[in-house]
Amino acid sequence: MKERMLENIRNECIKVVDRSYPNERKVIVFGEGNPDAQIVLVGEAPGERETELVRPFVGAAGKNLDEFLAILCLKREDIYITNTVKFRPFKVNPKTGRLSNRPPNDDEIRLCLPFLLKQIDVINPKVIVTLGNTPLRALTGNKEMTIGQSHGKLIDKMQYHIFPLYHPASIIYNINLKDVYIKDIEILKDYISDLHQEKFKKD
Ligand code: URA
Repeated sequence: MKERMLENIRNECIKVVDRSYPNERKVIVFGEGNPDAQIVLVGEAPGERETELVRPFVGAAGKNLDEFLAILCLKREDIYITNTVKFRPFKVNPKTGRLSNRPPNDDEIRLCLPFLLKQIDVINPKVIVTLGNTPLRALTGNKEMTIGQSHGKLIDKMQYHIFPLYHPASIIYNINLKDVYIKDIEILKDYISDLHQEKFKKD
């Protein structure tokens, strides 16, 4: 049932993106994982490797993400992983013609956000883990928010509980963040364990 609903949202997303970029044939990396997950991870946008394999977080940032999931004792199949923008934002090097990743712009975020919100509605997780500034700002609707101020602290004043983490790629660029990152993950681990205990109390 949920799989079917997610598939319908994916098809709708493909149509809307095709209509907005009629000459580009953009690859949609919609998301993957357990449709009944209690935890949804939301990144920024797919990169080159993700677009090749049509799977989120399978490139360099994915390696760090896997490390983070291991600390949480979670497997990819336990959670749902997706992105704010569902296709690769890129720029072209005018000299070499090569493509490189860039952060998504406001138009791309505006175009894709309704599909992320619908995905979340179907999955109905207990917590959304946002990775970096893009999903944090998109989901809170607050462009002033920064991951530097918000990381590791639960935001529970919205329909969904949001737990902001640094983007796993930020560790690649700034190794000093690794300790902060691990600390935040430990806080998230405690929060998830509390969620499980609550569930068992009810069962
Ligand atoms: N970075 C993201 O934000 N998402 C991916 O899927 C890969 C890298």
